[in-house]
Amino acid sequence: MATRQASAANDPSANAQRDSDGRLQHLITLEGLSRDELTALLDLAQFYVRAPGDLPARDQSLAGHTVANLFFEPSTRTRVSFELAAQRLGAEVVNLDMQSSSRVKGETVLDTIYTLQAMHADILIMRDAEPGLPAMIARHVAPHVCILNAGEAHLSHPTQGLLDALTIRQHRADFSQLTVLIAGDIAHSRVARSAWQALTTLGVKELRIAAPEDLMPPAGEFAGATRYGDIDAAMRGVDAVMALRIQRERMLHSQIPDEASYYRTFGITSERLNLAKPDAIVLHPGPMNRDVEIASDVADGRRSVIQRQVTNGVAVRMAVLATIVRNVQARRQLR
Ligand code: CP
Repeated sequence: MATRQASAANDPSANAQRDSDGRLQHLITLEGLSRDELTALLDLAQFYVRAPGDLPARDQSLAGHTVANLFFEPSTRTRVSFELAAQRLGAEVVNLDMQSSSRVKGETVLDTIYTLQAMHADILIMRDAEPGLPAMIARHVAPHVCILNAGEAHLSHPTQGLLDALTIRQHRADFSQLTVLIAGDIAHSRVARSAWQALTTLGVKELRIAAPEDLMPPAGEFAGATRYGDIDAAMRGVDAVMALRIQRERMLHSQIPDEASYYRTFGITSERLNLAKPDAIVLHPGPMNRDVEIASDVADGRRSVIQRQVTNGVAVRMAVLATIVRNVQARRQLR
């Protein structure tokens, strides 16, 4: 079984996300969440999942709350799914457009946050390229305000890690029987880091990471994962493979690999997929670069669960929002 040292005690983000009673008030990282906490979030998300064609789940868990989406990096899936999740739980939702926000006029991010807080926005969802920003903001907001990390630099994308774990659990319920491969630009990927945190805590049998040498994370990261430089060797016998986009936006121009040679040596093709178990599933967090990290026919093929990941993303974000709000309400009732 993949194991790692629990490092939450030394992780400022893991400490910043809990209230004085140890409840999750914010979601900044999956680091430090117990297996029971992760399982409870996945169970609630599964409750919110509906089959394609059915009407989406709705309730009033967030009635009276105001959710603000602050995405200072581009997003399609995460931003829209947080908005839908909040609306389906009865919240009022505002979206701050990064191009037209007053941050471009020099306003600090904290002043932007205080401005929204003054308008009674009480759940702030943010994506930013600066490491450490969600934890810093969580330490400055009012006690009733919650910060949800929707993507922090290369470090953390907790709701993506949860939706990946949920999608894998829907394939095979018992993590202790599963070998999972994450392949591609691991070094620059917040998706890979959050998936690693979730899957190792949930007790996956083996977690493999495969990357060209330049895209492998430094030694010491991804503790417990088996490292592969050869994608064919890494694919053998896996139950699930997650392909990752090359994160050009986090690289110097000289570091960006040539796409054609990357596809030849590392792309997830149907030939390579034949090395995995016959029923292995293929994940991709999106956005995809077809025929670079993943062959187009694999992305659209019968083993792909990429669209299911998107559907699960709304359910996971509903579960996170409902859980955080329930925790804040529980603290209020104790006072
Ligand atoms: N997976 C993911 O974060 O996608 P978006 O960048 O579209 O939100």
